Amino acid sequence: MNGVEATIPRRSFGQTMRPDVWWTQPLLVFLGLSIFIVYSTWAAFQGSHYFFGNYISPFYSPELFGDSPHSWFGTKPPWWPGWLIFSPALLILWAPGGFRVTCYYYRGAYYKAFWADPPACTVGEARKTYLGERSFPLIMQNVHRYFLYLALVFIVILTYDVWKALWFVDPRTGKSVFGIGVGTMVLAINVVLLSGYTFGCHSLRHLAGGFLDQFSKSPTCYRAYACVTCFNRRHMLWAWLSLFWVGFTDLYVRLCSMGVWTDWRIV
Ligand code: FES
Repeated sequence: MNGVEATIPRRSFGQTMRPDVWWTQPLLVFLGLSIFIVYSTWAAFQGSHYFFGNYISPFYSPELFGDSPHSWFGTKPPWWPGWLIFSPALLILWAPGGFRVTCYYYRGAYYKAFWADPPACTVGEARKTYLGERSFPLIMQNVHRYFLYLALVFIVILTYDVWKALWFVDPRTGKSVFGIGVGTMVLAINVVLLSGYTFGCHSLRHLAGGFLDQFSKSPTCYRAYACVTCFNRRHMLWAWLSLFWVGFTDLYVRLCSMGVWTDWRIV
């Protein structure tokens, strides 16, 4: 059979045959991520109003060093550089931040939304060459698996924070009593959403069973793989819900601590 050579003309930047409003999604991603980055950066540098009684903001947990009763190792360490604002969040936020930044879903989303590479699927891009993620700096995205290990540890710590949020000091006796406040629910929903996002991670899917040639060789791995796949199917939804809620949880604790909002007790 003789082959026929066909030339595909290169599209110029933004050119496409798509009839839909393709720029809506990248625009929404740009706005959503920008709002979160601005708010979380501001909140991380505050170093105050990050706890309210038995509640602690997820941006500040684990609080390795700090002034609150939630601190693990005491107050501000003496080695902290004098020229740098001290905030307990700065010691830990790089881990969940790194997990999000290197996430396969977010990569696809912010490559389009922030530097239009490409602007959307089947829309012409500005760059002539394709380097992918095989060279510096984007090859660094491969550290995602290691951020996953840290993210799993954070899930355990944030779950413990929910446990602590179930115990309130009785002002009459000074003893710790069981209770559920709106804040407890806010912190609990945060853990559920972050778990749904983390347990649907592509790297976890690979670790759970994606490395096997035949699932029949390991039914346990298959079950784990199927479980992760279940979360993975809605990874984008988990990603956005958990992003919104983690920011809202910080805001809730912050406003309660500032006396702007009242934390109502349910039980
Ligand atoms: Fe999104 Fe791992 S791929 S969290």
